[in-house]
Amino acid sequence: MIDENIDFCMTLDGSTGLFNKAVNDIYHSSYGAKTEAVEKFVRPLNLRQNFAQNKNIKVLDICYGIGYNTKAFLDEIINLKINSKIQIDILEHDRRLVLLSPFIRDNIKNDIISYILLSAISGYMDGEEAIFRIMTSPENKKFFKPSTRLFNKRFISYPYTYSPLYNKPAFLHNIYYHYVSKRSKNSLKYLKNGAFKIKPYFQDARKSILELSGGYDIVFLDAFTPVKLPTLWSLDFFVRLYELMKEKSMLVTYSNSAAVRHAMMTAGFCTGKLFDRRNRPCGTIACKSGELIEHKLDEYDLGLMQTNAGVYFRDKNLNSTAEEILSEWEERKCSLNLPSSSSFIKKYKKQKEESCSI
Ligand SMILES: C[S@@+](CC[C@H](N)C(=O)[O-])C[C@H]1O[C@@H](n2cnc3c(N)ncnc32)[C@H](O)[C@@H]1O
Repeated sequence: MIDENIDFCMTLDGSTGLFNKAVNDIYHSSYGAKTEAVEKFVRPLNLRQNFAQNKNIKVLDICYGIGYNTKAFLDEIINLKINSKIQIDILEHDRRLVLLSPFIRDNIKNDIISYILLSAISGYMDGEEAIFRIMTSPENKKFFKPSTRLFNKRFISYPYTYSPLYNKPAFLHNIYYHYVSKRSKNSLKYLKNGAFKIKPYFQDARKSILELSGGYDIVFLDAFTPVKLPTLWSLDFFVRLYELMKEKSMLVTYSNSAAVRHAMMTAGFCTGKLFDRRNRPCGTIACKSGELIEHKLDEYDLGLMQTNAGVYFRDKNLNSTAEEILSEWEERKCSLNLPSSSSFIKKYKKQKEESCSI
């Protein structure tokens, strides 16, 4: 448990997941937090084909949580031996999750990734003793990497020597020797030339996107389910993301929602579908040009957008509350009086059956 609202859980691939009681939504799929990141966010990028030639790859991870998308991305970059310089901007309003992320039992074999993340965030650990309390609580033990216990033990036994409050180099040195070095020495070459730059923004992602300068090659959008938390799925949000992305770039998300796809297209994106290894739909890709899209939206997906299921959210100044966004959306839906998605689906199926029987 992190607090009265956020609980840890073990997902089926052995990676730690989270559940939020306040939003009544999961952070990760029960079949596997790590597997989900690989399947829905990293594999669709086809990094070798689409980005390996870039000198620099700039990534925006919206809703970083405990970092699975960034970690799975870094893992793939290292596994494919891609030599580009990597910059990742992390948007997450719950600072504790970002600080916990390097220590989480994430089933990612390459421990250097934890070290890369720790190097990036250790400067933000000042005064964050609560993080160590969460990690050392016996009920949470199984959700953290076993090596975290070693680190915690030393941190707690010698707080003045190892505390980031007093001595950052000693803190990192300690992590290096007791947490990483034995297993990942070979991978350390990746750190030597400053190949990875990671910067967290601990505030509402809507505020951050107004401050960022853009030039992104890759955007991960992993917000809570649109109807539960519509704030990061509005047309206005996608319009700003469009401005921040390069001509040849990709935005990936797990959502298959017709309203989300409609918002993306209205913002100017070409939009397509993602499929997992078993050929089940598992999300959406949005690009500025159609050439990067493998599976374009079909007649059915486009038809669904013209029903009440395709009505997108509005958040004109990117600062409305979720309640305000939902109530404006409900009102607009009523006034548009569009056909229901169920009547469209029925009609579509009937037409298909008829055309098959001819
Ligand atoms: C579905 S979870 C994402 C899980 C994450 N990608 C991971 O690998 O752990 C959604 C995340 O969005 C964050 N969040 C929700 N609303 C936000 C906002 N307005 N700005 C920034 N972060 C937000 C939550 O704190 C939560 O961590």
